Amino acid sequence: MSTFPATRLRRLRQADWSRRLVQENVLTVNDLIWAVVVSDTADPTEPVAAMPGVERLGLKALADAARRAEQLGIPAMAIFPHIDPEKKDADGSEALNPDGLVPKAIKTIKDAAPNVGVICDVALDPFTIHGHDGVMKDGIILNDETVNRLTRQALIQAQAGCDVIAPSDMMDGRIGATREALEMEGFTDTMILSYAAKYASGFYGPYREAIGSGAVLQGDKKTYQMDPANTEEALREVAMDLEEGADMVMVKPGLPYLDIVRRISEAFGVPTFAFQVSGEYAMIQAAAANGWIDGDRVMMESLTAFKRAGAAGIITYFAPKAAEILT
Ligand code: PBG
Repeated sequence: MSTFPATRLRRLRQADWSRRLVQENVLTVNDLIWAVVVSDTADPTEPVAAMPGVERLGLKALADAARRAEQLGIPAMAIFPHIDPEKKDADGSEALNPDGLVPKAIKTIKDAAPNVGVICDVALDPFTIHGHDGVMKDGIILNDETVNRLTRQALIQAQAGCDVIAPSDMMDGRIGATREALEMEGFTDTMILSYAAKYASGFYGPYREAIGSGAVLQGDKKTYQMDPANTEEALREVAMDLEEGADMVMVKPGLPYLDIVRRISEAFGVPTFAFQVSGEYAMIQAAAANGWIDGDRVMMESLTAFKRAGAAGIITYFAPKAAEILT
């Protein structure tokens, strides 16, 4: 290791051209997945109070958003549904409606912007009256009964034209069951992006308002989502999901879990995505609205941090805003 003054690390930092020349990680529009909230009651859109700048989109507004994504070069959109509360029940039956909001949203995006990839969350929480991701009996979330439903939910999404199935429920065995069902039904090209390392996090708060599950959620999700204190367990989750047939994996939340992104991307060498979740988005927007931080700058810095940690890409509500800066 050479020492000062032979080595002056500031030499390379002195000009814009030399900083650009030695830059190690580059964020591009190809790294962005746009998280969108769709609604069957919004016409055309409804604001989400806890997420300034994010709106629930009716289907017409979703078509406009898909065209915007295509124009901006954003590779894919991830759909999260806010359904009419009247349609919720204890088992989340509406998740299995082939003419429900999500299948309609998939077709809307595919019609408006055929070159934009569509990613769908697989879980029951937007559809259940108790706000949990699975079937609940006597206060317990039943694993295998839930997997059975999630598999059917995934097939309905694939049938509607979804490109990437993204189970976000953290039940055991759901990736294997989903892969098997997709193969049996001829969906051999449908990709699976597993929310493999998903933590029981307080950072999901604003999302629960966005999809309308917050007010109803009974208890917490600690019996299926991971303890924020754990790392080795995340590696086991990922290993199992890859074994069961996942093509890509995700870490969630994002910024507070960059160490997990790094460990997973290094250990497995598979496309590892990070989800910059609603609470991360809301914190940046809130501080920026108060003039406490430069919002655009912090947005770009946080997105670059994901790349530095080894993420293949980032699911983010900031996608169109960041893409505008990048293109
Ligand atoms: C639920 C799901 C959640 C998010 C995506 N899918 C919330 C939860 O697990 O409670 C959170 C997304 C965000 O906070 O932006 N299956």
